Amino acid sequence: MAESVIRLHRPGSVSLAALPPLSLYVHLPWCLKKCPYCDFNSHQATLSAAGKSELPEAAYLDAVIADLEQSLPLVWGRRVHSIFIGGGTPSLFSPAAIDRLLGDIRARLPLEPGCEITLEANPGTFERDRFRAFHAAGVTRLSIGVQSFDDEALKAIGRVHDSAQARAAVEEAREVFDTFNIDLMYALPGQTLDALQADLDAALAYQPPHLSIYHLTLEPNTFFATHPPPLPDDDLASDMLDLIVERTAATGLQRYEVSAFARGDHRCWHNLNYWQFGDYLGIGAGAHGKLSFPHRILRQVKWREPAAYMAKAMGGQAVSNEHEVARDQLPFEFMLNALRLKEGFTLQQFSDRTGLPASAIAGSLQQAQARGLVTADAARVQPTARGFDFLSDLQALFLP
Ligand SMILES: C[S@@+](CC[C@H](N)C(=O)[O-])C[C@H]1O[C@@H](n2cnc3c(N)ncnc32)[C@H](O)[C@@H]1O
Ligand code: SF4
Repeated sequence: MAESVIRLHRPGSVSLAALPPLSLYVHLPWCLKKCPYCDFNSHQATLSAAGKSELPEAAYLDAVIADLEQSLPLVWGRRVHSIFIGGGTPSLFSPAAIDRLLGDIRARLPLEPGCEITLEANPGTFERDRFRAFHAAGVTRLSIGVQSFDDEALKAIGRVHDSAQARAAVEEAREVFDTFNIDLMYALPGQTLDALQADLDAALAYQPPHLSIYHLTLEPNTFFATHPPPLPDDDLASDMLDLIVERTAATGLQRYEVSAFARGDHRCWHNLNYWQFGDYLGIGAGAHGKLSFPHRILRQVKWREPAAYMAKAMGGQAVSNEHEVARDQLPFEFMLNALRLKEGFTLQQFSDRTGLPASAIAGSLQQAQARGLVTADAARVQPTARGFDFLSDLQALFLP
């Protein structure tokens, strides 16, 4: 075993009784065009004269698999419970490439039976039957980046697709997949409550098994940060959230996380594992990972820029940064995730995932209870409605 891996198994600052479930995240970093609000690691693809994207598919997948092989010693003997192929716009990759990717992963990592495999897809990046081919390649769940069904709103946020393409994408997804997700954003430039209501109605008419709805935020280093569009004020945005919660509940969707709504057993296993402070190996440009060992928790980031990532990964050096999470940071890191969940967490889960005793958070929990931000009994801690509304304040109570 390499010296670096032996080091990870030495005694350390925490003691985990067992390792959590392991997920795999694969990042595919290209898009047709960079959206003005987006600060994800996404890069505009080169287009051919015919307007088709020209991705270095094979070379990139070679690098991703080299990255995976370098990572295997960190997860020896562990099974993968879910895979998420995110971006960027993974649906720009051909079904044959996704088939190869999943085959190469299966050949190297044991997957749990029934392993959830999600792929992010954008409307307007596919011709008919492309989703069917992703399904045939082994994808079990499609997440469609619709954002809005309103042509004006789509233009205002610089999307490349229109509402007809959004509808076509959702219609094909529901024909092919038992479970799929629609991503929407709200508080869009110039959006009114009526316009949001129309967007919600359009989405809910498809009876999606899963819906994610994010408040549009102005992120630093984006075009919108320097050229901000006119956005709804805080009062209107708060009314919008009330409308979202009310309309989704009326159609049988449960808000199980701040921005995620699902019916029945259609909650996203992969994201739940993040929120429950499970482990994930991240491969691909800029991918993040969190991996537990008996006495430490390691965070890793891969090289961000696609060309540099490919060169580094092929040279055996895919990791650009890694650090062990300090013991006193663990409560806050746990809460950044677990307090996003409606059902909160049990004190047993806190101890299992961080290796710390429940007494490590007793003082902060008391303060959170006194301020009406959580309810807590001997076993479970749950954020209240007020806790959801003031989530960052609540999480900040657990800072060291
Ligand atoms: C990084 S994108 C990847 C999916 C796909 N490329 C797309 O854009 O549809 C994942 C989701 O993050 C959300 N998102 C991205 N930037 C955001 C922002 N500035 N504010 C709120 N949500 C954002 C969008 O809803 C998007 O569907
Ligand atoms: S398509 Fe998605 S990932 Fe790509 S730039 Fe737009 S928001 Fe970002």
